Amino acid sequence: MKYFFGLLLWMKVLGASAQETLKSPDGDLELKFSLDNKGVPTYALTFKGKAVLLPGKLGMEIAGDSISLRDGFRITGTQVSSVNDTWTPVWGQSSRIRNQYNELEVALYQEKRDTRILLRFRLFNDGLGFRYEFPKQKNLNYFTVKEELTEFRMTGDHKAFWLPGDYQTEEYKTSTTLLSGILPKLKSGTLKVGENYPLYENKGLVSVQTPLMMKSSDNLYINIHEAALVDYPAMMLELKGQTFSAHLTPDAVGNRAYIQTDFTTPWRTVLVSDDARDILASNTILNLNEPCALESTDWIRPVKYVGVWWEMFVKGSTWAYTNETNTKLGKTDYSKLKPNGTHGATTANVKKYIDFAAKHGFDQVLVEGWNEGWEDWYGLWKEDVFDFVTPYPDFDLNYLRDYAKSKGVRIMMHHETSAAATNYERRLDEAFRFMTANRYNAVKTGYVGYPIPRGEWRSGQWMASHYLRVAKEAAKHHIMVNSHEAVRPTGLCRTYPNWLAQESARGTEFEALADSDPDHTTILPFTRLVGGPMDYTPGIFQTTFDYYDPSNKKRVHTTLVKQLALYVTMYSPLQMAADLVENYERFPDALQFIKDVAVDWDETHILEAEPGDYVTIARKAKGKNEWFVGGITDENGRTAQINLDFLPAGRKFKATIYEDARGAHWETNPMAYGIRTVEVTSKTVLGQILAPGGGVAISIK
Ligand code: NOJ
Ligand code: CA
Repeated sequence: MKYFFGLLLWMKVLGASAQETLKSPDGDLELKFSLDNKGVPTYALTFKGKAVLLPGKLGMEIAGDSISLRDGFRITGTQVSSVNDTWTPVWGQSSRIRNQYNELEVALYQEKRDTRILLRFRLFNDGLGFRYEFPKQKNLNYFTVKEELTEFRMTGDHKAFWLPGDYQTEEYKTSTTLLSGILPKLKSGTLKVGENYPLYENKGLVSVQTPLMMKSSDNLYINIHEAALVDYPAMMLELKGQTFSAHLTPDAVGNRAYIQTDFTTPWRTVLVSDDARDILASNTILNLNEPCALESTDWIRPVKYVGVWWEMFVKGSTWAYTNETNTKLGKTDYSKLKPNGTHGATTANVKKYIDFAAKHGFDQVLVEGWNEGWEDWYGLWKEDVFDFVTPYPDFDLNYLRDYAKSKGVRIMMHHETSAAATNYERRLDEAFRFMTANRYNAVKTGYVGYPIPRGEWRSGQWMASHYLRVAKEAAKHHIMVNSHEAVRPTGLCRTYPNWLAQESARGTEFEALADSDPDHTTILPFTRLVGGPMDYTPGIFQTTFDYYDPSNKKRVHTTLVKQLALYVTMYSPLQMAADLVENYERFPDALQFIKDVAVDWDETHILEAEPGDYVTIARKAKGKNEWFVGGITDENGRTAQINLDFLPAGRKFKATIYEDARGAHWETNPMAYGIRTVEVTSKTVLGQILAPGGGVAISIK
């Protein structure tokens, strides 16, 4: 409603002019909006005079409506405005965030359908955001989107870091090819989520998903994603030639989205720079999201945690209590079933993790497999598998709750839903009350399998709304959320800062399930992390798994030191130390870095970055005179140039450097590391050697 009245107030008839230009505050980016001779809205973008996006179409196709919102528009008014302010995130990569942009609002009228829409463009110094706005009006109260007609027309055969546009998952390896290589690679049928994880493969495969990172041959870095995905499906991109077209994830009957006006779509974002570091430093996606919607936030705290988890991947521990199958929710008496002897979430094992957390200063202990239902827990016929409130007989919930309390530690709740979102929503209130009653204030959710409602996809409108409903509901109970297998994030953590992190990409678990490439974590900051923090679960010290079982030739594709560096390079207010506590006890000196590293920051400095090759980041811990530096490289060794000019001038600091030992190598010698301390100042530049697949981690006090 407010947009419609706003429109009436602002309307400025433009006469014949059908072209509008907008510049970013620093003048480097320029947007040109125009209507073509058929009245189709188009937009184009340049950076320092170089084309970034050629004129691409905008519009919306409405189901069952032959006119739709594709052409025949005229401009009825425009409005230009500017914003330059700062805001304070509850947690983040910096304690203040500048929000500076110039905005162009274009009011359009389509005669044949008697419909008004608005297009809103915001140009920041590092990128563009734009969205469609549908004011409430006689001819547009409700509609069904058949397809969004947004185009992104690239200017050349760019190098792209991409994942297939699978409606179900973001857990593929990244492919790095030219744009012209995308369709052949998709058609080759070789893209798999993982050799032991065939669940999602090739279902609903569109060209690519976002965040999509590209680099042009003239060294422009371009990232396409979206911000504020609310009540709408995620955007995939279909490639034809060098043009990407929006392809919204469909629902069970093939529609894309059901809209009631007033409505605004998510923002479509295009980050651009000639310096890769600017992509990592960008706050544009957060800035395009609404401010915090929660009344109080003092209960929200960044979390460093350990957990009964990695042993399920490398040591044969099980989530399930018994080997019996066909257990039924509420109808199976577990105390009568024979325990399988491999159950991980036993009282004694959890107690061991609580002791470790207390001793080493971790906030929480994740316990998976604590609740009934894991014997055969997913599949199309499985709706009522978990009730989220019934512990297995060998998990003494009351005892562990009280024991954790006595040690100043919390247990982290785990709600695997097996993607039965309907079941979860029915039980959510009870599940959250149960958590509060038992001292849990954070939940890791999971959505393995095909969603229920059946036929929905994890990136469709219904599921996107579900994850957000859960985060909002959790906030009412003062619960923090870490969602796994949820659709990739779009900066909603600004509005709902209790939504601390998500998985939504190939995490560390894949090193055990299949593999990941040594360049994986040099790409993720440019792709997945653009939308928000990831629960990547780093910190694997025992990098080879034949240590547990000589026949297990899988391994982590990094050195041990690179695992440390990830705590700095993979920003998240929620960080797991994922390895087994017995492994941490073998390497107490390396563990010290994980104990020390902050999870909330005053400042972030992107020192070096190139997608697919290397990332070096320095951050200042929130409210402390402590800095942490993480540097990582791909399969090639390199010397990182670490300029410490972010330190206060004129003072001396002690830097503890965790480094790959001479001869270290992710494949042949991954666990060789050294630790040394040096005196540094703001004038120091460290030339630090990183092993192939290696890294460096530095703490400065
Ligand atoms: C997949 C999640 O990513 C993983 O962390 C979890 O352990 C399993 N699902 C079981 O819920
Ligand atoms: Ca997962």
